[in-house]
Amino acid sequence: MKKEVFTLGMLLMFTGLLAQEVTIPISTQNSAILLQTDRDKRLRTIYFGKPLKDAGEYALVSGGYQYFDSNAGIYNAAYTPAGTWNIVEPAIQVVHGDGNTSLDLKYVSHKQDQLDDNTMLTSILLEDDNYPFRVTLFYKSWTHENVIEQWTEIIHEETEPVLLKKFASANLYFDQKEFYLTTFHNSWAKEMQPAETKLARGIRSVDSKLGTRAMLLQAPHFILAFDQPAAENQGSVILGQLAWSGNFKLDFEVDSYENLRLIAGINPYASEYLLQKNTSFKTPSLVYSISHQGTGAASRGLHAWARKYRVLDGEGERLTLLNNWEATYFRFDEDKLTALFKDASELGVDLFLLDDGWFGNKYPRNSDRSGLGDWQENVKKLPQGIGYLVKEAEKAGVKFGIWIEPEMVNPKSELYENHLDWVIRQPERPEKYFRNQLVLDLSNPEVQDFVFSVVDDLFTENPELAFIKWDCNAPIFNAYSEYLNRNDLPQSHLYIEYVRGLYSVLERVREKYPLVPMMLCSGGGGRGDYEILKYFTEFWPSDNTEPIDRIFMQWDYSYFFPAIASDCHVTNWGDQPLKFRVDVASMGKLGFDIVASELSEDELTFCKEAVSNYHSFKDVVWHGDLYRLVDPHKNDLASLMFVDEVKSRALMFNYLVNNRFLLTAVEEPIKLDGLDPSKKYSIRELNLFPGTRSRFKADKIYSGDFLMKVGINPAVSLRRTSVVLELTEVQ
Ligand code: DGJ
Repeated sequence: MKKEVFTLGMLLMFTGLLAQEVTIPISTQNSAILLQTDRDKRLRTIYFGKPLKDAGEYALVSGGYQYFDSNAGIYNAAYTPAGTWNIVEPAIQVVHGDGNTSLDLKYVSHKQDQLDDNTMLTSILLEDDNYPFRVTLFYKSWTHENVIEQWTEIIHEETEPVLLKKFASANLYFDQKEFYLTTFHNSWAKEMQPAETKLARGIRSVDSKLGTRAMLLQAPHFILAFDQPAAENQGSVILGQLAWSGNFKLDFEVDSYENLRLIAGINPYASEYLLQKNTSFKTPSLVYSISHQGTGAASRGLHAWARKYRVLDGEGERLTLLNNWEATYFRFDEDKLTALFKDASELGVDLFLLDDGWFGNKYPRNSDRSGLGDWQENVKKLPQGIGYLVKEAEKAGVKFGIWIEPEMVNPKSELYENHLDWVIRQPERPEKYFRNQLVLDLSNPEVQDFVFSVVDDLFTENPELAFIKWDCNAPIFNAYSEYLNRNDLPQSHLYIEYVRGLYSVLERVREKYPLVPMMLCSGGGGRGDYEILKYFTEFWPSDNTEPIDRIFMQWDYSYFFPAIASDCHVTNWGDQPLKFRVDVASMGKLGFDIVASELSEDELTFCKEAVSNYHSFKDVVWHGDLYRLVDPHKNDLASLMFVDEVKSRALMFNYLVNNRFLLTAVEEPIKLDGLDPSKKYSIRELNLFPGTRSRFKADKIYSGDFLMKVGINPAVSLRRTSVVLELTEVQ
């Protein structure tokens, strides 16, 4: 059943009935969510769409809907309680202190605070009539970026603790005709594989039960498109994400009216939470951007929001780097490393990043089987310590950064021998390892102190340390906490308290070291969301750096994350030419993981020039707007461009991604986007490999109008598989 036509008489009748009802619009520039109380003061979502010009008319919206069956009025609850008359997926389910399992939430009050000229915080208090049990719904909305962040706080004054069995962050309701959901599926080196489904009656769930490396199998990001499959430049879409670095669950339920209910939050799996009197339980946030012009505009809104309000130092600078992981793995010593510092300096990057393998003495970290947890320099490999390396790097003209994985432990380590009670493991069962390691119990404050000290000691001993790569390779197996046991706390708190413990450590790190760049890594892209990115400047999308795979991954990550936050390294994965690999990595924050001294003369010349080009245009990639022009999922080509704020400079990246029909050249021009139609631009090809010539003449001038209506042909072919073009405004 959908909206029904109704008569003027009915309208008057309904508006009369609604007279004392409260209507709460949550709006951004392009959208409005309308919440309204019914006669019994239950809060419902009555509209999700474009904002009305006359806000006075919001009160009339609900008059057009007639849901008369006995469940009407609960399907679209703004926060659906369980245990009374609800028969659909609940947002909240509790067992009161007296054992009663019913909950009914009624509107009490709300307020809307204008935090600045772009940001509004709406909070709505709901309460049960029969129990002193309250829920506050929060909606933070950013007008210009069309982004909303939603979370919930739960509190009670019952004498006995209340068991929270389910506690969603957000409960949304959409009454469009059709719903297309794109979710993203992962495994090691195969991150961000999109799957689009047309939703039918029933529930489609996306979840994680992995604990730490929570995104190993599925991501908490989604694209929800209304009335048509997601398209780049048209149609209404939401780009959403549960901002929580642990177990999550997103339920998309098409109800019997064929409307869509979205319930998103911490995964209730093995996570019942015993809430003490007067203690507030704050859920993580659901973050989403809304667009009525397709995913392109939604991404640009989300990127702008992320840079300005969320990712640490999102509008700042980043360090290009040379990493030694794939260049040496665990086999290095001081000489090898200092030689690599020279490579870094020769390439022209800002920093050298020392990866795994630098620590452990009783159990040296010479493979992934031992040493994890023992954060002292290995005296055989590094007799003069980290301090010496920092100084040598400085002498070579580069900064120095270091890898850590402080949440984890190898059973073959002194840490494990001395602090078995810090390790998450079932005491009565055989241990089960993932990459030969176990997870430390961050619900334990002592473990939090330890993890903090790993970072703090490194910085205290080496104040010039300029970068940290924070890895996390294992999920939680055999979830059991000795700390919770000792303190008579329920084991079902572990998954939640772990993540809270992690955030609290990161909070301490950032209090003391507010801006040092840190890369979030999780055995590739096993972690990455808008809560943890408050503490990190960037993340590692995948260990897979094969550039064609990367084009797809970077394309799909780019729906959600700005290029400045995405670390892209040139490695030896795959057999694409060096130029192709460098061009692909130049679409994010550029790094290298190769031995530069093994490059041929031409290759080294090329890399140095490409790094210098990157330094000249990185500002556009890091801070500009992204336009996805040609989708590699549907074409033999991929084409993306970045445009600076004033539309006077742009970078266009083009790649051949499929040569099945031995394409000789791209036949047609590609229409550009985001330029100023009235401006004139010259085009210059960058990153030419020594000995090759450009097809573009620097003296040719095009109008933005021409470039966006007719386009240009980057002349990608089997001989020119990647082409980088720079557009510069001609005055
Ligand atoms: C997994 C990461 O994804 C890699 O980049 C590397 O740091 C290894 N861990 C080191 O063990």
